[in-house]
Amino acid sequence: MKVVRFGVDKMAEQKKSWEERLAGEPDELTIDFVESLSIDKRLYKYDIVGSIAHAQMLAQQKLISKDEFKRIKDGLIEISQKISEGKFKFDKKLEDIHMVIEAALAAKIGEAGEKLHTGRSRNDQVATDIRLWMRDEIEILQAKITLLQKQFVKLASRYVEDVMPGYTHLQRAQPITVAVYLLGFVEQLERDFIRLANCRSAGSGLNISPLGSGAIAGSTLPLDRKSTAKQLGFFDISYNSIDAVGDRDFCAEFIFDCALIATHLSGLAEDWIIYSSCEFGFVRIDDSFCTSSSMMPQKRNPDVLELIRGKAGGVYGSLMAMLTILKALPSGYNRDMQEDKVHVFAASDTVSQSLDIVRAVVAHTKFDTKKISAGLEEGFLDATALAEYLVGKGVAFRKAHGIVGLLVAYCEKEGKKLAELGLDEFKKYSPAIEPDVYERLGAANVVSKYVTDGAAGPKQAKEQIAYWNGQLAQR
Ligand code: ARG
Repeated sequence: MKVVRFGVDKMAEQKKSWEERLAGEPDELTIDFVESLSIDKRLYKYDIVGSIAHAQMLAQQKLISKDEFKRIKDGLIEISQKISEGKFKFDKKLEDIHMVIEAALAAKIGEAGEKLHTGRSRNDQVATDIRLWMRDEIEILQAKITLLQKQFVKLASRYVEDVMPGYTHLQRAQPITVAVYLLGFVEQLERDFIRLANCRSAGSGLNISPLGSGAIAGSTLPLDRKSTAKQLGFFDISYNSIDAVGDRDFCAEFIFDCALIATHLSGLAEDWIIYSSCEFGFVRIDDSFCTSSSMMPQKRNPDVLELIRGKAGGVYGSLMAMLTILKALPSGYNRDMQEDKVHVFAASDTVSQSLDIVRAVVAHTKFDTKKISAGLEEGFLDATALAEYLVGKGVAFRKAHGIVGLLVAYCEKEGKKLAELGLDEFKKYSPAIEPDVYERLGAANVVSKYVTDGAAGPKQAKEQIAYWNGQLAQR
């Protein structure tokens, strides 16, 4: 029995063309299960831009008339406006944004609208739309990365001379400047930026137009694929129609890039959760990014940072999901691939929001340099520099390492710091030690003596800040 399925909106009176093929109505459960409209409606602008390019090419190739093209274009622009104003009624029975827009167009302009899908399949259409969306999304993420980098550089320039402990294994290692510690995150983010640029390129398969590949085999109609590719700003067209509709490599790559950004942000979050604890007290996270406890009145919890750390888990989940969706798919388009957008959007949204809030947190974080320096001489941060001092006096490094190891053990026993030892005490462990040793001891002395490129001292901090200020100003 054919029932009236779309009573409300005129556009919805359209039938899907395959209703002629299939006997009866889809089950209600099927309608809910196969629809992707709730996820892919955010692609509407890209779908419309892609359709206008396709229609223009159809007109150039005389597959539709110029007048039909104009009516298609005007109709699509009106639909776009209606959607952006929130006045458009979406009907999930039409499955996805591609069908919804096409049906609305046919309802609006009649037969010309029914010609839009000439030589096209949703398989090449969706593969085009997701690429167009991703190109823009990558630029947005890159802009957010740049803003966060600038915020880190700004914060770093306040702490060029301030020394803090550098940790390995979360044990005190060597002294570093707060600035260079912060600039480490700028480096990570720079790699994230470049990784996204690579993902956006033709090399990943992203900036390549699949449009005109049809369902799997191309078309018997004389489509000009290079024309649509050019209109849509793609670097090139795809050269294998079967691969073109089945390729979602760039989706996996994009989510991986998001996952690595999430990894980097989670590391920062972890650092500052630790550093803001009473035990460390190195940083103060602004109240506006903390929450309190429903029970313990004294609490200032770094919940924002904890959620940054936690949300990385969801992004990794998206990456696993994407790879698993693609695993062992038969060649060509398979409906499994519709699930790509769930994970691509989720990963991107999480990372986008995380980048925003991390930038705000960084902008308002203060390092408690008094508290840091008060405990700076704990933990023998200058031990390695002392070994290197001995190397300067002609002692083999392995021997120097052993001498300083014994000195540290002696200090621990005596409850002293290395800088508190007398020359006579030093001499017992190595005759090579002279009075000039004291210039090498203590965290502040050590950082001022770092000479290698990219080291963690104030000199290198200044160099790095100058570099990043120049680099980031161009973006
Ligand atoms: N909604 C689908 C997707 O996102 C569009 C392609 C559907 N193609 C098809 N032959 N059923 O992948």
